[in-house]
Order: sequence, then C-alpha cells, then structure tokens
Amino acid sequence: MSTRPQTLTFDTSTSRANPTPSPMKRLTVPRIRQRKGGEPLVMLTAYTVRMAQLLDPHCDMLLVGDSLGQVIYGLPHTVAVTMEMMAAHGAAVVRGSYHAAVIVDMPFGSYEASPEQAFVNASRLLKETGAAAVKIEGGRVLAPTVEFLTSRGIPVMAHVGLTPQAVNILGGYGVRGKSPEEAKSIVEDAVAMSDAGAFSMVIEGVLEPIAIEITNKIDCPTIGIGASAQCDGQVLVTEDMLGLFDRVPKFVKKFGNMGMSVEEAVREYASGVRDRSFPGPDQLYEPV
Ligand code: KIV
Repeated sequence: MSTRPQTLTFDTSTSRANPTPSPMKRLTVPRIRQRKGGEPLVMLTAYTVRMAQLLDPHCDMLLVGDSLGQVIYGLPHTVAVTMEMMAAHGAAVVRGSYHAAVIVDMPFGSYEASPEQAFVNASRLLKETGAAAVKIEGGRVLAPTVEFLTSRGIPVMAHVGLTPQAVNILGGYGVRGKSPEEAKSIVEDAVAMSDAGAFSMVIEGVLEPIAIEITNKIDCPTIGIGASAQCDGQVLVTEDMLGLFDRVPKFVKKFGNMGMSVEEAVREYASGVRDRSFPGPDQLYEPV
C-alpha cells in the first residue's frame, strides 16, 4: 500500500508573505524509511521559497543542498559554503513547502571534527530552519557521528560515493568505484553509515553495480544521483534538470529548457522597454 500522503493539491492562493498553508501534513522521516523497496522516493534540490512552492506537490523530499554554493552564489565548489547560507536557505524552503520532508546539507567544516561539533551545528540548522533532517557527506569514519546525532534526536541522511565536499582530496568530480578496491570501500562506507542509523542515503557518481549492491545490502532507502534507477529514489539539482545551465554532468537529464525561456522573456522585455511598448495600457493605472 502506498504511504504517500493525500495532500498533493497546492494552494496557489497562499500569499507571498505567509506562503505556508496549515495544517501542515509533511512526510516524516519514519515514513521515508518505510519506503525502502517500495514506491521510488522523489527528491530535488531547492534553495528558495518560490522554487520550494513549485516542487513541493511533486516531491517526497526537498534537499537544501550545499550545491547552492555553485548554483546561487557562483562559488567554484561547495567548500566555502557557510552555516549562515544553509540556515537562511533552509528556512526559506521550509516556509515554501508543506508536504515534502526538508533535508538540509551540513556544510564542509561543520561536522567532521567531532560528533559534538556535528551536534551543535546540526541542532542549530534544525532549530533555525524547521527542517526534518540533515545530510552529511562521508563514509565509515563518520559512522560514530551518525550514531551520536541519531540517538540525540537528529535524523541523518548519509552521502557516499562521489562526495563533492572532498573535491580537494579527489581532484575532481569523476565517477567513483572504478577499481575493485575503491568499489569495496564505498560499499563498506555505505553499510557502516546505514548500521550507524542513517535514515536514508544519497549514492552519487558510482558505477551502477555498486549502487545496486548497496541498495540490496542496506536497510535504509538509497537515493541515486548518477548511480542507478534501481536505487530506492532519485535526486537531481533542480536547476540542472530544468535546463538552466548549458553544461551539466553526464547523469543529468534536462526535463526542461529554463535557460532559453528566461532568455526569450528577457529579450522581449528589453525590446519592449527600448521601443516604449512596455508598459502598455494594461500595466498603467487609470484615473478614478
Ligand atoms: O548539494 C547537493 O545538491 C547534493 C545533491 C546533488 C545530492 O548533495
């Protein structure tokens, strides 16, 4: 039986100032866990309130990914993303959604030093955003941190395989797990994070057999990105799948062409301003 809540009608009358309708009927972490092996979980990234409003009716989870470093702030990678950025965008996404569970990425440097450091920063993110859970990148070395957070009330989504915060160690964003040793190590990381209590796990940029092996081996749902359709769900960076960028990773399918739509609209606006056809009679106030 589907566990999908019956609250998918989006209330477009909700005002900009107070965009979250009530009562809120959000998907919870335990219900996401229960979807292991069931109906695939749909996750997309969101960083802003309007995008959250548009995605929410269609998604089980909205990820406030630290990819916002590149997508919103034009940073070269995610290493410089701050707690302040994650808290501000996380709160906006929670305000713009009422059905999907919102997960916030912990930025690089906010959780690796110790489980205690992770708790201080994860609890701050949950308090300041209202999100349901945090996501951390990494393998077995962080399993004690997952156990520490989970046993203290903070659900954790793990992220294994290609972990973009480690770009300075990895040297780039190439596919992981090409050698048998590396493949084995990624599977061991995944098992350790699941055994430590992660409620779900992103598997990014690995050869498909690795994603399938992990999905079959671990208890929590796997969310693939550049991994396999056999994962328990999928995630993409929304701006990538909407076609906002010309260059996207191999694993992205463009489901729209937002870049071209924006260009066409802006070209028309600019020409309307230049030839004085905008504003027209419809946009002008009439005397009473
Ligand atoms: O930061 C992000 O957007 C992510 C997803 C790509 C999984 O971690």
